Amino acid sequence: MCGIVGYVGPQNALDVVLEGLRRLEYRGYDSAGVAVRVDGPDGGELAAAKKAGKLANLEKLLADEPLPESTIGIGHTRWATHGGPTDRNAHPHLSADGRVAVVHNGIIENFAALRAELEDAGIEMRSETDTEVVAHLMTAVYAGLPESPGRLAEAMRLVSGRLEGAFTLVVTHADEPDTLVASRRNSPLVVGIGDGEYFLGSDVAAFIAHTREARELGQDQVVEIDRTRGLTVTDFAGSVVEPVAYTVDWDAAAAEKGGHDWFMLKEIAEQPQAIADTLLGRLGEDGELILDEVRLSDQELRDIDKIFVVSCGTSFHAGLIAKYAIEHWTRIPVEVEVASEFRYRDPVLDRSTLVVVISQSGETMDTLMALRHAKEQKARVLAICNVNGSTIPRESDAVLYTHAGPEVAVASTKSFLAQIVACYLVGLFLAQVRGIKYADEVAAIVAELQKLPGAVEQVLTHMEPVRELGRSLADADTILFLGRHVGFPVALEGALKLKELAYIHAEGFAAGELKHGPIAVIDQGTPVVVIVPSPRSRESVHGKVVSNIQEVRARGARTIVIAEEGDDDVVPYADHLIRVPRTPTLLAPVVTTVPLQILACEIADTRGFDVDQPRNLAKSVTVE
Ligand code: G6P
Repeated sequence: MCGIVGYVGPQNALDVVLEGLRRLEYRGYDSAGVAVRVDGPDGGELAAAKKAGKLANLEKLLADEPLPESTIGIGHTRWATHGGPTDRNAHPHLSADGRVAVVHNGIIENFAALRAELEDAGIEMRSETDTEVVAHLMTAVYAGLPESPGRLAEAMRLVSGRLEGAFTLVVTHADEPDTLVASRRNSPLVVGIGDGEYFLGSDVAAFIAHTREARELGQDQVVEIDRTRGLTVTDFAGSVVEPVAYTVDWDAAAAEKGGHDWFMLKEIAEQPQAIADTLLGRLGEDGELILDEVRLSDQELRDIDKIFVVSCGTSFHAGLIAKYAIEHWTRIPVEVEVASEFRYRDPVLDRSTLVVVISQSGETMDTLMALRHAKEQKARVLAICNVNGSTIPRESDAVLYTHAGPEVAVASTKSFLAQIVACYLVGLFLAQVRGIKYADEVAAIVAELQKLPGAVEQVLTHMEPVRELGRSLADADTILFLGRHVGFPVALEGALKLKELAYIHAEGFAAGELKHGPIAVIDQGTPVVVIVPSPRSRESVHGKVVSNIQEVRARGARTIVIAEEGDDDVVPYADHLIRVPRTPTLLAPVVTTVPLQILACEIADTRGFDVDQPRNLAKSVTVE
C-alpha cells in the first residue's frame, strides 16, 4: 500500500505534490520520491528526486538540491513490496532515456515475464521493483504511436492491458507539457478537480486542502488530465466512461482515516484488500506457490521434521491458528510458542527444524532474539512479516511478506488476518514441496482462500448490531471468550483485543476446559462470547460447543454467539447471535475474528478511550 499523488495546474507542482505526500504518508514511509516535467533548452525534460526513509529525508534532499518550478508533477510514498526499502527502489522509476517517470501502488504479478522480455531487448534494469518495467514499456509503446492529442493515454491503455495484478500507475512524459495520465486496477485512485487544476491521489487526503470536488475511478480505467482538454476517463479498450462525481465532506484529519473515527476502524475496513493483496501473485503459472525470498533449497524444506511457530501478542495467535492448518496439510508436528519464552527453555532444535517467526513490524525484540537463537542452533528460519526490509526478514532464511499495508493503530487487525492467510500459504507450500499435496489440490484450497476477501466484506456490512451490542457492554467487569479447534485462538484474540483497547478484564478459553475451572467465574449476566465451529466440521466439535453454550447459560451467562449462516442449532441458546458466512473449517478464523475486533473497538470508544493508542502499549516493542 503506497501513496500516490499527481498534479497538473498553475501552482508549483512540487509544492502541491509534497503536501499531498505528507497527507498520504500513513500509507507507507519506506521511501518517497517526486518527478516534475520542465521545459528544457531542447524541449521538455524530467527532473526527479527520491530518497529511502520517511518523507522528511526527501524534503531535506530537496532543500539542498531544489527541483525547478513546474506545472506537472507526480509523487510517491512507498510501502515496499518488491525490492527492499532503498534509494534505488524508491519511486518514481524512470525509463532508460529518462523521458518517462512512473509511480505505482500495487503488485504487478507478471513483472518477471515482462522484465525478462525487456532484458532480452537489451534494457538494463536499475531496481528490483516490479514497477520499473512500466517505465520501459511506456517508452517503447509511446514511441510506436503517432503524434496526436491523447497519445500518452493511448500508451497507458496499451501498457495497462499487458499488466496483471493490482496497480495504480501515474505517468508523466517529458514530451507532454500539458498531460498526465493514470491507470487503475484493484488499487485506489481518485481525481480532484480544482479551478483550472487537477489532482490525482490514492485517496482524497492527497488534495483535500485544494478541492473537495472528486471523481471516483472504476476498475480497469485510464484517466488523462490535460491543461487544455480537461479530464477524460476511458476503459482499457479506449471507450469513454463517465466517472462518478462526488463532493468530499471530510476535513483533512478525517480524510487520512478514510472518513473513519479511528485508524483501527479504517484498518478493519481494509481487511478484504489486505487478504487479497497477500494472496496476490502467490500462485505461479503451473499452480505452484511463490514465496518472496526463499534462501532454502527444496531438499532443505523436504528434510524438515518439526516446526516451531514463534511470535508475540496478536502474531502469536496467528501462530496458534497456523498449527491447525500446517499440521493438517503437511503432517509435520508443529509447536507454537511465545517468543519471550522460546529461547530460555532451551528448545530442541537442529538443522531439520523449521522455525516460523511471525511479526507485523519485523522489529519485535523478543521475536528477533528467538530467531537468532534458532539460527545459532542451526534451525532454518522463515519469517512472515508485514514490513519489507525490517530486521526479522533480513535475518531469516526465507520470507513471506503479508501485504497488509502500514498499520497505524496499535492493536493489530488487518495484519493479523493477513498473517493467518500467509500461514495457510506456508502450510500449502510445504505440503507441495514435500509432495503431500499436488498442485491442483493446493489450487483448490487457494480458490477457497480467494473467497475470503468477499466473506470478510460480507461480515463488515452487517456490523451495526455488533456495535450496538458493544455499546451495551461498556460497563461489563469481565467478558469471557470460548472456542474449540481454530476457534480457540480466535477466543484468545477476542479477549486480547478487549483488554488492549477497553481495559476490561477478559479471558479466552478452550471451550472444553470450561468445566475444569473457568466455569466457576460465571455469574448472573456475565457476558460470554462463543465462537461456534461449522456444523460441517469434523468430529462433532460443533455439538460440543453448542453444549458448552447451554452450560454457561444455565449458570446465568449472557451468551453472545458467533455462528455461520444456516446453523440453527445455536438459536435457542444465543442471547445475541452474530452471523458469519459459511467458510471451510480451517479458514474460519479469518471471518470469525472480525466481529470481535469491532466489538472491542466499540466498547473502548463508548468508554471514551483512545482506540488507536491504548495506554501502556506500543505498536512495536523493541525491548525484551
Ligand atoms: C506489541 C503490539 C501488539 C503486537 C505485538 C507483536 O505488543 O502492541 O499489537 O501483536 O507487539 O508485534 P509484531 O510486530 O511482532 O507482530
